[in-house]
Amino acid sequence: MEKIIDENKQGETLTLENKKDNNRKLFIESYGCAMNFSDSEIVASILANEGYNTTKNLEDADLVLVNTCSIRDKAEQTVRKRLEKYNAVKRDSNPKMKVGVLGCMAERLKTKFLEEEKIVDLVVGPDAYKDLPNLLAEVDEGRDAINVMLSKDETYGDIAPVRLNTNGVTAFVSITRGCDNMCTFCVVPFTRGRERSRDPQSIIEEVNDLWNRGFKEITLLGQNVDSYLWYGGGLKKDFVKASNIQKATSVNFSNLLAMCAKAQPKMRIRFSTSNPQDLTLDVIETMAKFNNICNHIHLPVQSGSNRILKEMNRLHTREEYMALIDNIRRIIPNCAISQDMIVGFPTETEADHHDTMSLMEYVKYNFGYMFTYSERPGTMAGRNMNDDVSEEVKKRRLQEIVDLQRIHSEIRTKEYLDTIVEVLIEKESKKSDAQWSGRTAQNIVAVFPKEDYNIGEFVQVRVTNCTSATLIGEAISLSENN
Ligand code: SAH
Ligand code: F3S
Repeated sequence: MEKIIDENKQGETLTLENKKDNNRKLFIESYGCAMNFSDSEIVASILANEGYNTTKNLEDADLVLVNTCSIRDKAEQTVRKRLEKYNAVKRDSNPKMKVGVLGCMAERLKTKFLEEEKIVDLVVGPDAYKDLPNLLAEVDEGRDAINVMLSKDETYGDIAPVRLNTNGVTAFVSITRGCDNMCTFCVVPFTRGRERSRDPQSIIEEVNDLWNRGFKEITLLGQNVDSYLWYGGGLKKDFVKASNIQKATSVNFSNLLAMCAKAQPKMRIRFSTSNPQDLTLDVIETMAKFNNICNHIHLPVQSGSNRILKEMNRLHTREEYMALIDNIRRIIPNCAISQDMIVGFPTETEADHHDTMSLMEYVKYNFGYMFTYSERPGTMAGRNMNDDVSEEVKKRRLQEIVDLQRIHSEIRTKEYLDTIVEVLIEKESKKSDAQWSGRTAQNIVAVFPKEDYNIGEFVQVRVTNCTSATLIGEAISLSENN
């Protein structure tokens, strides 16, 4: 088993169970969303068949790949810094190394990368990873290579990902690619293309395989998972043209959730991310019906102001969102809800900002990810609106919502004091090697003394203390669930 490394650690070097006969060395690292980490597992799988094993040392890599994120300017700056680091290593100790850029920045910047960054030999967009063997052959012959074609049907459903940096307990399973929502601030529809769904049969096979290899929790991944729709392949928008048979046998997200929950009734199932406009009551009811679907919904709202929601092309109002929250609470009383928020979207006033804070008060989210608006070239907001909220105001508003979220998180974690929660042990606690760290079904981190328990076990934990982000407790017994 690999060393246990936090799966979402940005830029973590990835390694895998290496093949004996492979003699080339790949250093691959990922930035950004879970989908990028998942995509790197597909890339590693493709390259394992091309003679590459992974290494953690830049110094002895034949090929360095960086899977990049374009969501905010800062994410792109981080990657530029990494390219400087590769440059230094290539100059000082590893002149033969080749460098490739994958993911959203590759798609956004295309040939500009080859022009701007002399170190880069290879540029590959998120839908072109199957072309890597051909592209690498070009690079081997001394030419720069690029493929940034987006696809209407590529889902990599036929590729078994090689699990990288795995704790052997939790894994990502991607179910859709791309996004058709066109939120005006967001670069994803441009970098990841049109939305398409993966064949449910291949998803179930992957889930079964993970269970057989000892994994206990999966997260179904998509930019917009609730929009999942399988009717034989192709774009979602073309569903209207599907035959009656295709329509009758189609599988939507709530069907898929139920299929996964039934296929492996002991596997914990999570999903991310839900756009409020696409989350149906059916999905919430399916969550309620199956014990193994975790009671947590990540439900980014971005703003609490109706005017800003409209400018963002989020297709729901504040009132509709509140009604959705009420429905979740009614159908799944102990469901955790988390958010993403953007402050300082163009034209955002103090009154709009207060609407965001009052919506947060209404929901009292368990946790959230909060950002200042970063203008992205090519998006509707980037083209049509002035980035007119000053950095100073953005920062102050961000601090206000971060502080408010901390208060709410603490209220939420305190609700668990003196209760017993079920925790799946994932790894050693960062703060103490005498403690395990895992998560509850609600996706709240819990730490407790190791005793004789093991990674991958479900444990009943009595919560004796907490911070705003973590439950602190002691294990009582193994769960019946094991
Ligand atoms: N559906 C996606 C959302 C992608 S981006 C998912 O699977 O998570 C993640 C979050 O980044 C968004 O919810 C939004 O809050 C934030 N974000 C996106 N574009 C942004 C921008 N231009 N500036 C600041 N934050 C942004
Ligand atoms: Fe981006 Fe909105 Fe899709 S945030 S990923 S365009 S749902």
